[in-house]
Amino acid sequence: MRTHNVLLIGGGGREHALASALKRSPRLQTLWISHPSNPGLAELGNAVDVPVDIREVYRLRQFCDHHGISLVVIGPEDPLAEGYVDALASESRLVFGPSKAGAMLEADKSWAKHLMRAASIPTADSRAFDDPEAAEAYVQSRPEAPVVKASGLAKGKGVFVCRTKDEAVHAIDQIMRRRVFGDAGRRVIIEERLAGPEASLLALVDGSNILVLPPCQDHKRLRDDDQGPNTGGMGAFCPASTIDDAMMSRIEREIIVPTVDALRRAGIDYRGVLYSGLMLTPAGPKVLEFNVRFGDPECQPLMAKLDSDLIDLLEATATGTLDQIDVRWKPDAAVCVVLAADGYPEKPRAGHVIEGLDEAAAVPGVTIQHAGTRRDDQGRIVTAGGRVLNVTATGKDLEEARQRAYAAVSQIAFPGMQVRLDIGRAPVSTGA
Ligand code: AMP
Ligand code: GLY
Repeated sequence: MRTHNVLLIGGGGREHALASALKRSPRLQTLWISHPSNPGLAELGNAVDVPVDIREVYRLRQFCDHHGISLVVIGPEDPLAEGYVDALASESRLVFGPSKAGAMLEADKSWAKHLMRAASIPTADSRAFDDPEAAEAYVQSRPEAPVVKASGLAKGKGVFVCRTKDEAVHAIDQIMRRRVFGDAGRRVIIEERLAGPEASLLALVDGSNILVLPPCQDHKRLRDDDQGPNTGGMGAFCPASTIDDAMMSRIEREIIVPTVDALRRAGIDYRGVLYSGLMLTPAGPKVLEFNVRFGDPECQPLMAKLDSDLIDLLEATATGTLDQIDVRWKPDAAVCVVLAADGYPEKPRAGHVIEGLDEAAAVPGVTIQHAGTRRDDQGRIVTAGGRVLNVTATGKDLEEARQRAYAAVSQIAFPGMQVRLDIGRAPVSTGA
């Protein structure tokens, strides 16, 4: 059995869930982490003592050589888009995640749209604009209010589902002129608004083989009943009943396989997670977006359901041997509820002391992931980000998992805490 010294890059709740799953593996030797300021991660791994910065990536490479790191696992999209995989992979070192070219599927929405159109992959009709006036004129020429998206990476917040054309014009102004998402807003996508239930279908792709993971659903809006602004995700659950076996095969056939083929035709040997954000429209499943990594928070329920060794899966993905893997999932359902800071998503307020973590973790079936927390100088856990904590619970069915998650949530308190109370309750449907 080949064992690994693993470096995990990323500092949120997704990485905390990945780190816990890595720690369960008998194939793990030593776990190194890039973000020791996350107290959850700090408990599970040794801190990397060189900068984790693409401009000095040679130092991270030297660190990996020196410590015999044989597997690097990259959680978030930014390091993938910056090319960490290309910089860190070597003869003796596997890296889990797509190359910089593959990461464009998420980092450059207009490129992704182009790829989908060329391969006839079902997605909303759209046009890309580099000039705000041209984008506004296009909005005015259309019969309906559209969806406006920043083309680059905007932490899940760069999408405006507009009710009126005025809102769309405002969104273009925010994205392109005011640059509220920085350079991600150099280009906008103006997209037809679709309607239907949403689901996230994640697959591991090893260049050619595809292993579809149990379907998940996340809740992107800030408030109950899908009200309020889009966020990085306020909760998720798995399995999502909106995708039955027949729908899963259809999505694999009409979306995932053609996407991997199209990537290959573009010269990209895609290895890592291919995350399809989907809308199940009356005309069939359509792609809202691709991500090139585990969803956050979808990863948390997925890791809670995983019964196999995570290192087996990551290694098989990186080495092109997914066809030799027999993955096992627990029969349980899993729910993850996000606790967000006061002021999230616009201006999260930090530094509030968090109470009740031990009591919450004692609820049966519950684990807690740290997303945006740190220890203050008195050793207390305080808020330090927008999405602060994830409360993940398993149960024999969704209802039991929900009850356990919310029993744990009710133990936790910090000033201004925001939480949705309807995670996992009903299929999310975005009506046009
Ligand atoms: P995205 O980050 O592209 O998945 O978009 C975030 C959220 O905006 C999605 O989960 C949907 O709820 C919504 N959305 C994105 N694109 C569309 C669309 N074309 N029609 C309707 N809603 C959309
Ligand atoms: N939960 C959505 C995302 O990770 O982008």
